[in-house]
Amino acid sequence: MTTELTLIADFLELAGDYLDRGYRRERQNTVILEGGPELAGRVELTRSPNLAGDQEFTRGAELARGQELAGDSLERVSSDIAACSACGLAALRNRAVPGEGVQNPLALVIGEGPGADEDREGRPFVGPAGQLLDLMLASIKLFRDKNCFIANVVKCRPPHNRDPLPEESAACASFLARQIALLKPRAILCVGRVAAQVLLKSSEGIGRLRGQFAEYQGIPLLPTYHPSALLRDQSLKRPAWEDLKLLKEKLAGLDPVYAGECRETRP
Ligand code: URA
Repeated sequence: MTTELTLIADFLELAGDYLDRGYRRERQNTVILEGGPELAGRVELTRSPNLAGDQEFTRGAELARGQELAGDSLERVSSDIAACSACGLAALRNRAVPGEGVQNPLALVIGEGPGADEDREGRPFVGPAGQLLDLMLASIKLFRDKNCFIANVVKCRPPHNRDPLPEESAACASFLARQIALLKPRAILCVGRVAAQVLLKSSEGIGRLRGQFAEYQGIPLLPTYHPSALLRDQSLKRPAWEDLKLLKEKLAGLDPVYAGECRETRP
């Protein structure tokens, strides 16, 4: 097919999607890829086939590690996110929220998805739950501008702060997988049930998942309660604190500089 025919086919598909359901549906990629292997990788990722979430994660991570995305970067992931219309959340967003923090962080913190404040600002965890998250992290010497990166499973706000639907998580999965592959965090902290279940491909509740390390592609992963849950239920603060201490010990064992920083401020 020539490029012109591809564009016409694309437009008809898009028009059909909007008439049919009001947003762009995910489908097998039929775009002719031009501009070399690097661009091919990008286009494929942003318009990925409708795979189940766990396949998407694996595929995104493999692509991010592989030759075709050798030139991938966090900036490119962010611009792909800003251009994404793979699920119904895109049409509802004010701003996409790719995440923020430092390269090669000690900890990658993953929440479920932006809320109203985050949707307005385009930054993760900036509302009341985010302020508590910052305090929790600071208590173990973690800071988003120094040694952490903060991201979410879905990059656009689910309406009324509902849980992301499985197809929404799946549509966003390759973005998170690329971020993880690029960031190479020493540990992952999943805050809340949704992030823990998606990353661990589990249906267990957060009460059972928290409190012990699992692994995501060789990276230690600790689930804990979401700061919003702590704001609602004070009794969760104690177990959340126990989890943070576990994370601190893990990171201190992996990074002597961080271990030193933690020792310095011990009473
Ligand atoms: N809750 C989340 O899970 N993520 C945010 O970015 C904000 C609130």
